[in-house]
Amino acid sequence: MLINTWYVAAQSASVTDAPVGVTMLGQDFVVFRDKDGKAHCLSDTCIHRGGSLCRGKVAEGTVQSPYHRWRFDAAGACVAIPSLGPEAAIPKRARVDSYPVQEQWGWVWVFLGDLPEAQLPPLLSFFPEYAAFEAGATDWRFVRGTYMFDAAWTRVVENGLDNAHPFFVHKDFGNPDHPRVDTVDIEPRDFGSYMTRTQKPVDKNGLWAEKITNDRPDVKTELQFHASGPSVRIQMHLRPPMSQIIISAYTPINDKQTLSWWIQGHNFFTEEKYDADSRKRVLTVFQEDGNIVNHIKPVHVPPSLSTELTIHPDAMSFAFRKMIKEYEARGWRIDTKAMAAEDEVARAIPSPTRGADPKNWVLNPIILKPARSLSAAAE
Ligand code: FES
Ligand SMILES: [Fe+2]
Repeated sequence: MLINTWYVAAQSASVTDAPVGVTMLGQDFVVFRDKDGKAHCLSDTCIHRGGSLCRGKVAEGTVQSPYHRWRFDAAGACVAIPSLGPEAAIPKRARVDSYPVQEQWGWVWVFLGDLPEAQLPPLLSFFPEYAAFEAGATDWRFVRGTYMFDAAWTRVVENGLDNAHPFFVHKDFGNPDHPRVDTVDIEPRDFGSYMTRTQKPVDKNGLWAEKITNDRPDVKTELQFHASGPSVRIQMHLRPPMSQIIISAYTPINDKQTLSWWIQGHNFFTEEKYDADSRKRVLTVFQEDGNIVNHIKPVHVPPSLSTELTIHPDAMSFAFRKMIKEYEARGWRIDTKAMAAEDEVARAIPSPTRGADPKNWVLNPIILKPARSLSAAAE
């Protein structure tokens, strides 16, 4: 799992006037809104006696620990210690890590890492259809949800980028009689990569068979990934101009579970009465993928790029592997083995404030694998 990237922590609509507990990268966080409705995210462990802040409450724009009611503001600074009285000075170390937050497409995105705020990577720009919808356009209809994989995030994201499996794994997407994948050209784009592929159509099931009829050309699919999330966009031009887009941001809950936050858009069957059918279709696709990736061995993508045999249809997932290696070379990979070997130690992912001022924190930072050269990281 990697630090110094953006992850989806919660649905915006689910963060109201109570603190929300979230687990990402094996660490616990509390997400809450201040008096102005702005969302914030703090490390969940109270630095007094380890209370879980998400079990407290939001009071005057701060999070109040449930145990002795110390209060932490949006920047993570302790602003009240009731048992010392209102006049008491607050110790400098009385603070928890606070992470940058942005809301986009109805999701609360949190930057987990210690890069200076000026160096944060961008959120995604590859969903203009949803931006248009938020501005009032009605030609696309969107449904959303989540799906939990019992699989490592690298395996799950690679599955989203896998060009060869739809023919065999998805009964509604791929035609198993025409499984050949033509050589694909991949272009680097926006903290990730982009490609297109074309495939023979397959008979649609249920409602969609009414509109996505078989008198249609080969189906062009556009595929793109972005480091933030990490996220995948898949657009299938089913029967032009009818098209479907699935965006998924894959949050590693821990090193063996991955939560997909997904939005599906379609520019046909756009009335609300079809939403349940649309949702069911997406969840069927995720379930079909889960049946495979939840059982892959080993659980994690092997550390060496040459351990598994790569062929040309795997080019997109290979591009993703190479991007991960770049992050690892910078020293941004969590050393999950070293962390698991510790006995009951609470740590925190370092925030930008900690990055600029590493002293005077109560919790130690999580353990990271050391930075190394890119070629060494790839071996
Ligand atoms: S544990 Fe949080 S105030 Fe004591
Ligand atoms: Fe799939």
